[in-house]
Amino acid sequence: MSHWSVEERTAIDPGRLAADIRQALSQRPVSIPPKWFYDEKGSQLFEAITELPEYYPTRTEEAILLAHVAELPLVDTLVELGAGYSRKTRLLLEALTRGGRELLFVPLDVSPRPLRDAAERITADFPTVTVRGVVADFDDELAPLPGEPGSRMVAFLGSTIGNLTPVPRAAFLERLHRATDPGDWFLLGADLVKDPDRLVRAYDDSAGVTAAFNKNMLQVLARELDADVDPDDFEHVARYDPDLDRIEMWLRARHDVVVRLHALDLVWRIAQGEEILTETSAKFRLEGLRTELAAAGFAVATSWTDDAGDFSLTLARRT
Ligand code: AVJ
Repeated sequence: MSHWSVEERTAIDPGRLAADIRQALSQRPVSIPPKWFYDEKGSQLFEAITELPEYYPTRTEEAILLAHVAELPLVDTLVELGAGYSRKTRLLLEALTRGGRELLFVPLDVSPRPLRDAAERITADFPTVTVRGVVADFDDELAPLPGEPGSRMVAFLGSTIGNLTPVPRAAFLERLHRATDPGDWFLLGADLVKDPDRLVRAYDDSAGVTAAFNKNMLQVLARELDADVDPDDFEHVARYDPDLDRIEMWLRARHDVVVRLHALDLVWRIAQGEEILTETSAKFRLEGLRTELAAAGFAVATSWTDDAGDFSLTLARRT
C-alpha cells in the first residue's frame, strides 16, 4: 500500500524575505539570494528556460542519467534535494522500483505546494513508492533524513549546487555529511566549465525568457514587501567570470531609481547603471568536484559526462 505525507520544517515566509532584503541592502553590490526567483511565475519561467535551445543543462543531464540510470545502486531510500516531479525524478524512481522493489522517496523542497502535488502524482503512478516530503531549505540543517542508514541516495540534480559560492558550498556539504550515514550515496549534477560565449547565451537567451525570469524577482519584492518597483526600469545582464568560474546574473538600473519598500519602511535608491546581483551559477571541473567532495567526506565512485563534456553526473559515497 503506497501513501504519502509532507513534513513542514521551514516556512518560507515574507519575514524571511524581509530579513534577506534588509541584509542585502546593507551591502554593495546589493545581492539578493536566487531562491527568491521561485514564486509560481518564477517557477514557470524556469521550466520554460529548461526548454530553451540555448539552455543545454537540463536536457544534457537527463541524457546522462538515461544512459547510466541502470548503474545506480539499488538503495531503499531516495532523497531528492530541490525536487519536483521532473522527468529526471521519474527516471530515478523507475530505476529504483524495477521488479516491484519498494522505495521510500523523500523529496525536499522550499515550497509545500509543488511537494504535495508531486507526492500525490508519484503515489498514484508508483504503487511501491512511499513519499515522505520535507519542506526545508538547504540553507538549514538537513538532518534528520528519513530512511535506513547506509541504504540511501541523496540526489542533488540540475547544478543547483552552482548557486552556492565556495564557502557556503563547503558548509552545505558538511550539513549533508551530518545528515547522512556511512555507505549512503550522493548523486550530484554539476555544470562544467566551457566556452564563455555559450555559457552567456545559456543565461541570456534570444527569446528573453531568462531576462523575464531575472526581472520576476522584482515582482516578488513588489508583492511580498509592498514595494513600488517597475521591472522595466532594469535590464537583464548575464556575464561570465573566468576567474571565479561562474555565470553572474544582474539587474542594471536604466536610470536613477527610487524603490519604496513599504513593508520594511525603507527607501532604496539605485543609481543609473548600478547593478544588483541576483544569481551566481558556478561551473565546475571534475577534479575540483572530486576534491571538494573528498574534503567533505564523500568519495567519488564515478563521474559521467555527455560526449561534449558539457555537464556531469557524479556518484559519490559517504565515508
Ligand atoms: C536552477 C540554479 C541550476 O544556474 O542554471 C537558469 C538557474 N538561472 N537560468 C542555473 C537559472 C538562469 C539554474 N539553476
